[in-house]
Amino acid sequence: MSQCDQKTQRVTLGDHLMATNPEEVKSLLGFKDSKRVIMIKAKKKKQRPDMCQSVCEGLRQIPQKELSSTYFYDEQGSKLYEEITRLPEYYPTRTERVILETIADELLSLIPIAQLIELGSGSSEKTRVLFNASHAHSFIYIPIDVSDTMLGASAQQLTTEYPDLNILAIAGDYENALHLLPPSSNRLFLFLGGTIGNFTQTFQAYFFTSLLKQMSHGDHLLIGFDRAAHDTKPPELIENAYNDAQGITAQFNLNILNHINRQLQANFVLEQFQHRAVYNPKQDQIEMHLVSQCNQAVTIGSDQQEENQTFHLAKDETILTELSRKFHPEQLQKSFEMLGYTHAKTWEDANRHFGLMLLKKR
Ligand SMILES: C[S@@+](CC[C@H](N)C(=O)[O-])C[C@H]1O[C@@H](n2cnc3c(N)ncnc32)[C@H](O)[C@@H]1O
Repeated sequence: MSQCDQKTQRVTLGDHLMATNPEEVKSLLGFKDSKRVIMIKAKKKKQRPDMCQSVCEGLRQIPQKELSSTYFYDEQGSKLYEEITRLPEYYPTRTERVILETIADELLSLIPIAQLIELGSGSSEKTRVLFNASHAHSFIYIPIDVSDTMLGASAQQLTTEYPDLNILAIAGDYENALHLLPPSSNRLFLFLGGTIGNFTQTFQAYFFTSLLKQMSHGDHLLIGFDRAAHDTKPPELIENAYNDAQGITAQFNLNILNHINRQLQANFVLEQFQHRAVYNPKQDQIEMHLVSQCNQAVTIGSDQQEENQTFHLAKDETILTELSRKFHPEQLQKSFEMLGYTHAKTWEDANRHFGLMLLKKR
């Protein structure tokens, strides 16, 4: 609490408070009468691999090298993602917004929200639809994002746009942040943007089982999911969304190497890789790769570091950077019911391109 001005109960953005347990967070939230933003950094749980370990393990993988899509989101990556959401080819964001606008009043009448917790909040752009619909802003907004510059900037912007909104911004990985959530009932967890598609099936089951353990009776989860190709959704529509004419998605994909170069003193040469994104209709997923343009070697860690490691890539060998799974609503519903969730309602746009699924704790 040392950085917190007791008089105004306002914490300067950029002064990240460290909180290690829900009790500390609860005491930070205790100032009900003041308008403010609190920004805290979620501490890494000990057993989670760090970035260097995760990147090296991914590059060591046989036969398919891979990198976690979480590493797309440094400051530049978050900006590029925002650009992607405005591209004409990228239908998911605008479609999800239309659905949210249509259902906002109904949703708010179903759940008397005390805390609105957004996993992977990004710019919180679409969340504004819910802020606008709930005129009283009686809830605390808790955005969680690994991209702390984007999180800080959007929290700052929200305080200007919604001076009555209380914000607790948690910078860090979803899993680390979830353990910090102060207990409450009537919480709505938001997981928008089709980000669920970036999880493997195994991780999806693990992650949402852990989330369910954190949820109390009366809590809900709203998930935005991109639909698999079907009669009114040709596969080309999906593939084009990841291969835009302006090449912004290609820049976003390549930026993961910049992020790794900077964070881990690696020496990827971006010009020696090319973006590729293909729709795999059997698996209902976009598979995004970086294709090596030549035989090359990449070192993670500088020459001065004892633990530097070198990886070899053959010409045309690829690094898998993202899976973006697409869903059939009935199957998605079943997979959540198997984990112990109760399905409340699913909404879709008129073309059935995108969906929002509301689940609750049984
Ligand atoms: C596909 S974007 C979606 C952003 C926003 N929810 C939307 O619908 O436009 C994914 C967001 O999740 C964040 N993110 C990715 N991996 C994360 C992780 N492991 N923990 C927390 N946030 C993460 C990214 O920084 C990014 O803002």
